[in-house]
Amino acid sequence: MIIKNLKAIFNTTYGTSKEDVEVYFSPGRVNLIGEHTDYNGGFVFPCALSFGTYLLVRNIESRVIRFASMNFDYHCEIPIDKLSHKVAGEWVNYPLGVIDEFRKTGIEITKGVELLFSGNIPDGAGLSSSASVETVTGIFINEKFANNKLGKEELAKLCQRAENNFVGVNCGIMDQFAAMMGKQNHAIFLNCDTLEYELVPLSLSGYKLVISNTNKKRQLADSKYNERRGECELAVAHLNEILSLRNLGELKLAEFEGIANNIPDETVRKRARHVVSEDQRCIDAVQALKNNDLVKFGNLMNGSHDSLRNDYEVTGHELDTLVDEARKIDGVIGSRMTGAGFGGCTVSLVDEKSIDKFITVVGDAYHKKTGLNADFYVADVGDGAKKLNS
Ligand code: GLA
Repeated sequence: MIIKNLKAIFNTTYGTSKEDVEVYFSPGRVNLIGEHTDYNGGFVFPCALSFGTYLLVRNIESRVIRFASMNFDYHCEIPIDKLSHKVAGEWVNYPLGVIDEFRKTGIEITKGVELLFSGNIPDGAGLSSSASVETVTGIFINEKFANNKLGKEELAKLCQRAENNFVGVNCGIMDQFAAMMGKQNHAIFLNCDTLEYELVPLSLSGYKLVISNTNKKRQLADSKYNERRGECELAVAHLNEILSLRNLGELKLAEFEGIANNIPDETVRKRARHVVSEDQRCIDAVQALKNNDLVKFGNLMNGSHDSLRNDYEVTGHELDTLVDEARKIDGVIGSRMTGAGFGGCTVSLVDEKSIDKFITVVGDAYHKKTGLNADFYVADVGDGAKKLNS
């Protein structure tokens, strides 16, 4: 049904033609634990969501690419030989960045196409709408212009480079990897240093993951994100006066506590403590899930949020309020912010029987304390990027 409607909108946007319209899809993600560890060579534990970005594609005669989106007004037509130019401040930089990274690997767009993007991930919610735009572009180009030459892991890395080099956000690999490699009802336990991963079944016996959106506009999120990365690099530089580390992910917590004083600046020390302790929480949480110990998993989620609030300082009043109110509800065994922070969403582990109460009571309290209305979604864990039968 969705596809039929999208095709109708495609024809309204570009007009009808006898050429077929192909459809690709890539999901958003929610990270369950392991936050701000990916760019430190640590572990993460995200899963792909059933909502994401659809991309409709049709061949045309002229040597241009037409870009349109159902989520943004901006649309444009760019000649094939001008695709490495940026369009200041516009969403098309995500697909253009991916096209540019393909070009660097020797894969060029050789024929004109019309593209329509349509996403149902709440924008700016920290559920990786940008990675889903990048990865859906990645699988489309790989299929249409490269005969599926690149594997999915390679594509995830290429899409990360697009965001780093073209968009200018120094993100880690987690979002693009989750969007590419996700599997229905599984979370991905990923070692971001080696890219070894394991798909872990999400058996939550009677519990559900509830995502709560602060609906707070994320201000300065990209610059604060890059600032945190810089602080982690500084921590490594100080520790390397006595060690020889590539990244903070190589340290265990006990080892870190013994040498933390080598980092003179207290803020930088706190940032490093978050990364090292979060890495251990992520490892422990995956083990707890495998042991069916959901209470322990929930406690580790709580510990993750507290560390992101106190040591990494990326939460803020809205995220903290949602988490505090969630934890007051009977039937909630864990609640934390997810994604980069500075606004965006929380994820909570909630007894199925308490979900309605959760939404009403947390929603009301959040509105009283912040003046904002939260949105709630019960997470439906879906598959990674793929071409759809159209
Ligand atoms: C953003 C980035 C990811 C990761 C998270 C924090 O989502 O894109 O690479 O660093 O923040 O865990």
